[in-house]
Parts: sequence; structure tokens; C-alpha cells
Amino acid sequence: MRRIKVFDTTLRDGEQSPGCSMNLSEKLQMARQLDALGVDVIEAGFAIASPEDFRSVEAISKTVQNCKVASLARCTQGDIDAAWNAVKCAKYPRIHVFLATSDIHMEYKLKMTREQVLESIAKHVAYAKSLCDDVEFSAEDASRSDWAFLSQCYAAAIKAGATVLNVPDTVGYSTPQEMFDLITYLRTNTEGIENVDISAHCHDDLGMAVANSLACLRAGATQVECTVNGIGERAGNASLEEIVMALKTRREYFQMETGVNTQQIYKTSKLLSSITGVPISPSKSIVGANAFAHESGIHQHGVIANSLTYEIMKPSDIGLPQNSMVLGKHSGKHALRDRLSQLGYEVSKEDLDEIFVRFKALADKKKTLTDHDIEALALSRARTVAETYELISHVVSTGKDITNIACVKIKKNDEVFEEVAIGSGPVDAAFKAVDRITGLDVALENFSLNAVTDGEDAMGEAVVKIRFGDEIYTGCGLSTDVIESAIRAYINGINKIVGSK
Ligand code: KIV
Ligand code: ZN
Repeated sequence: MRRIKVFDTTLRDGEQSPGCSMNLSEKLQMARQLDALGVDVIEAGFAIASPEDFRSVEAISKTVQNCKVASLARCTQGDIDAAWNAVKCAKYPRIHVFLATSDIHMEYKLKMTREQVLESIAKHVAYAKSLCDDVEFSAEDASRSDWAFLSQCYAAAIKAGATVLNVPDTVGYSTPQEMFDLITYLRTNTEGIENVDISAHCHDDLGMAVANSLACLRAGATQVECTVNGIGERAGNASLEEIVMALKTRREYFQMETGVNTQQIYKTSKLLSSITGVPISPSKSIVGANAFAHESGIHQHGVIANSLTYEIMKPSDIGLPQNSMVLGKHSGKHALRDRLSQLGYEVSKEDLDEIFVRFKALADKKKTLTDHDIEALALSRARTVAETYELISHVVSTGKDITNIACVKIKKNDEVFEEVAIGSGPVDAAFKAVDRITGLDVALENFSLNAVTDGEDAMGEAVVKIRFGDEIYTGCGLSTDVIESAIRAYINGINKIVGSK
């Protein structure tokens, strides 16, 4: 079995995708979970991009214990210095330097000749190497580059000290056979390549990112770059869970393995979706709600007789909760803690106290509490920010052809405020009442509502994207009452704004 290294770029390439931005504490939470998942490298961000990006990469470097932490840098001294300063406190730091090598990028974007590109790679990889032992070099748009020139670029990077060569299909243009041939060509024609890791980095514009990544691995790549839930620029990156589960499920075929603890996959996927407010499509491979659901009678019959008839993976392989109904309004804190722990959530005493209060309130409203309910409570606690504003109560008056009125009562630092507003609907009226209390000039960019648990008394999760200045903040709120979910989500977003100032 060949051991493949998994390089996770959820917090860099993934975070670049619209609607997926995360604040510092959210990135830290994700990084801890990626560490528990067992990836080999976390690309924590692009340190030069902004002071916040720098702080996040630095904080992740200080926190993560098991995996390497990388920061991206263009071929400039300033970028490389920022990357190094942000990762140097990591146990295993890496600088990831990139420069485009395709004719179209060199001519129109970089305005550099081939000679200048070769010189820049040699100079900047050597500079990165003078700071950090572990240097990855990426030839951006490698798959559309001239192969002979590309091979020269990688040889220059190896000579300057690169330890990993990344081969990106930046625009998701290639096919699996082409990627297989490209890696084979590079392995045969690049001096020194046998001493370094070869990495695949595929985008999903034509829906082939996972197939392309697997083809690279079959051709001899030793590292694969991917993101949780496949988030990323445009159509996204290759999805981590799909690659890992393909290698595990078809182990005999691929003869490869990773260090990922697959039982953490479901939790990692859920956490990301819950932090970003970006839902997972029900038919998404591996982690979609329907990935293990059997609807048709013929399939159900087969699965009951022998699950192998229609199931190539077990739900437990990815840590999917089995939805056993165990807790109710008479259950105590110990039982709740045990269940949380069985679901993979180790919570502090303070978190347990908080979750327990909400658990009791929910148990008063719902007849039965499923694992999905418990999980939703744990996730909603996990994304709690400092509660500058806290919802106390609300009343809305709504109906057809009448004015929608909301009265909202909110606590801020032990002071209670109450405001009334009218709006185009009950949610709009409630948000306007909140605005009156906070006095913040916030614009609502997006609002969505999803049932996150089962049954007619399901909990609804509201997600808002609100703009304050140039920044978009995501707020999430959970309740069996959809208006309350919406107000909680709005206040959660506002608390993030206040917390970031
Ligand atoms: O897609 C790409 O080319 C990248 C590089 C910066 C590695 O993300
Ligand atoms: Zn990319």
C-alpha cells in the first residue's frame, strides 16, 4: 500500500469561494477538527492577503499539534516573509510558493517571459528555503502549460530546495487521462523529481476534480490537495471526503491508503457547513443527506436482506449518527454528555451546561429527541460567539393583508432594550426592530431556512449573510420556531460584527 499525503486547503482555496469566509475563531475550530480528522497538511491561509489572514494562519500554527501548517505566497519576498512569519511557530511549518507557468497567464497576467519566470522560481524558492526546510512549489495553471517548459520550472524549483511539487489543474480543464499522462511525463523528464513529493491540485469546473486527482495518484503523485465538501474557487476543489473514501472503498484497486480517520468525516463536513451556512446538497456523494438513504422498495428490500446489495460503504465508516432515539425530557446531564461523546462531541463543562439548558427547552417542545437534534444543539453551541446582544423575547403580529409588526426584547451587558418595528414580513419587521436596538447600519444580503432535524416538530436553522461595511458576516440560529431561528441568526451575525471590532 502506498501512503498518500492529504493536503487540506479548505481554509485557503476553500475559504476563497463566495459565502465561505470564516472569522478567526471559526478557522481555529475548523483547523482543530482537521487535525482530529488526520490530514497531513493544513493550508491555513494566504498570510499576506490581510492582517486578519495573517493572524488566522499564525493562530492555527500555534494551535495545531499533529499536521503541518502551510501558508501560501506569491513569488515575492514580501509574500514569503509574511508566510514564514505566520507559520514559523508551527510544529511543522511549510511555505507554499506559487507562480503561473502557462503561456496565457505569463503573457496576460504576469507579463513575464519564460526566462523571467524560471529565474523568479529559482530565486524565490531558494529564499523560502533559506527560512523554512519544507517548501512546496506550485506551477499555477500547470495543466495548460507547455510540458517541456513546465518540467524546466519544476527542475529549477527542486534545485532551489523545493520538497513538494504541486501540479494544479487551476481552471478544471483537464481530463483524467491527460492528468495521468502529465504526471507520468513529469516523472520521466524532470531531474531530481524522485526525491520530492508530487502533488495533485484539481478544480471541479467540468466535474472531474476527484477523477483527475485519483488519476494523478495512480500516475505516481504522493500528495493530494482537496477541501472538505469540495468548497473552493468557482465550481470548487476536489472533495476530500470523496477522494479519501474512494481510496478506502476501492483499496484493492488503488493499493493506496491515507492517514485520515474516516469516522471523523461526517462531523467535519457538518461543522464546515454549519460555520459557513453553506448547505450540503442532499445528493452530495459521501456526506449528502441521501448518500445512505434507500427510498425505492426494491433497494430497501435488498438492503434489509444484505446491506452489501446496495451499500458500498457503511454509514459508520464516515461516523454518521445512527439516529437512535435515546433521550427525552427526563434525561439528565450525564446521559446527554454520554450521547454527545458517542456522537464525537467532547464538550467542556461550560458548554455542557449551556447545551443542557437548550436541550431541556427543546425536550419540552419535542416529543422525541433524535441524534440529529443533539448534534444540531452541539453544532449551534460550537459556533457561539461572545454574546454582546442576547435575545430575551419576541412577539410578531402577522397575517394576510395586515401590517407586520414585531416587538423584540434584547439584553446588552445587563441592560434590556425593547423596540417595535413594522416590515414587509414578520422576519423583516423583527430584523428592523433589532436594528433599532443596535443602531448598526447592517444590510441583509441573504436569508435561508432549513429543517435540520426530522419530523413535523423539526428544528429550523436560519442562516443570514449580512453586510457591514465591506465585510459579509454569517449568522446562524436554531429553534423549533422559525421566526425565533431568524432573529437568533441575525443577532448571531451582529455579535460577530461587534466581536470583530
Ligand atoms: O488552483 C491553483 O492553481 C491554486 C494554486 C495557488 C496552488 O490554488
Ligand atoms: Zn486552487
